[in-house]
Amino acid sequence: MSGARIIDGRAAAAALRAEVRDEAAAFTARHGMAPGLRVILVGDHPASRAYVGTKARTAAAAGVDGRLIELPEDIGEAALIERIAALNRDPAVHGILVQLPLPAQIDGGRVLEAIDPAKDVDGFHPLNAGRLSAASGGLDPRLLVPCTPMGCMILLRRTLGEDLAGRRALVLGRSNIVGKPVAMLLLAAHCTVTIAHSRTVDLAAECRRAEIVIAAVGRAGMVRGDWLRPGATVIDVGINRVAGADGKSRLVGDVAFEEAAEVAGAITPVPGGVGPMTVACLLRNTLIAARNQLE
Ligand SMILES: NC(=O)c1ccc[n+]([C@@H]2O[C@H](COP(=O)([O-])OP(=O)(O)OC[C@H]3O[C@@H](n4cnc5c(N)ncnc54)[C@H](OP(=O)(O)O)[C@@H]3O)[C@@H](O)[C@H]2O)c1
Repeated sequence: MSGARIIDGRAAAAALRAEVRDEAAAFTARHGMAPGLRVILVGDHPASRAYVGTKARTAAAAGVDGRLIELPEDIGEAALIERIAALNRDPAVHGILVQLPLPAQIDGGRVLEAIDPAKDVDGFHPLNAGRLSAASGGLDPRLLVPCTPMGCMILLRRTLGEDLAGRRALVLGRSNIVGKPVAMLLLAAHCTVTIAHSRTVDLAAECRRAEIVIAAVGRAGMVRGDWLRPGATVIDVGINRVAGADGKSRLVGDVAFEEAAEVAGAITPVPGGVGPMTVACLLRNTLIAARNQLE
């Protein structure tokens, strides 16, 4: 393998959690209560259960009062929205997250819109998405921004420095959860941004132009080494489960890591790259939401 710097997401996430822990302790001392997070899990989707378990465990260690609310798979949309309304009214709750995906009988858009935008720690409410899109020339630090995209930005800045102005960035994927918000964050950081997707013609050529590549497609190893410009910084958001040679399954990203590391200047591994940052940014958002509500 070449000399690409491996971007250590676990270390970056630990540093961010430690920062949140110190600031959450100060918040608790000022207000007599910890920043409060409620994570709603509907049904028993195995991957979702694993994610929410990590979120709740990590919260406690960072001084955030994180609690899991489990609701039955067959809950109706109105009943779920009523639970959210009760959390919106609860002054001990500063952040609310509804774990996606939701069962088919529930309209996810309506549920996300039912969350008080001030408590929307996933940053998916249309008001917060709109505020992010409207940000120009820097970002209001009080804004609740989607966690995985924010994690990508923190890793980029740790690698390339605070000032990303003028960098040519390619975002591969245009979902509301990752692709679009990360593109908006790069734009707010004054990068020149291209967003590619399944209808993009000649993805490889688009990639080769970029100094920064953010891959969020959900296709194992799709971005090949020869798609990259030498020295590029590669942030791999993909989490794909594939069968390993030993018959056991393992997680890989959207980038063919070994060959990409021969060409890139720096690259995130999977696992251990963006993944740990997502939960750390959720705790950070809970602290931001709590401060916005009380200070
Ligand atoms: N690390 C984390 O914490 C974290 C958090 C969230 C997601 N993820 C992972 O990130 C990946 C993306 O997640 P997502 O929610 O954004 O996925 P998504 O909603 O399925 O969106 C995938 C995007 O990739 C594009 N795409 C799919 N196949 C393509 C192809 N062959 N060529 C070009 N573009 C293609 C799609 O284009 P169209 O719009 O044209 O269909 C779409 O915009 C997944 O692996 C997911 O597990 C990780």
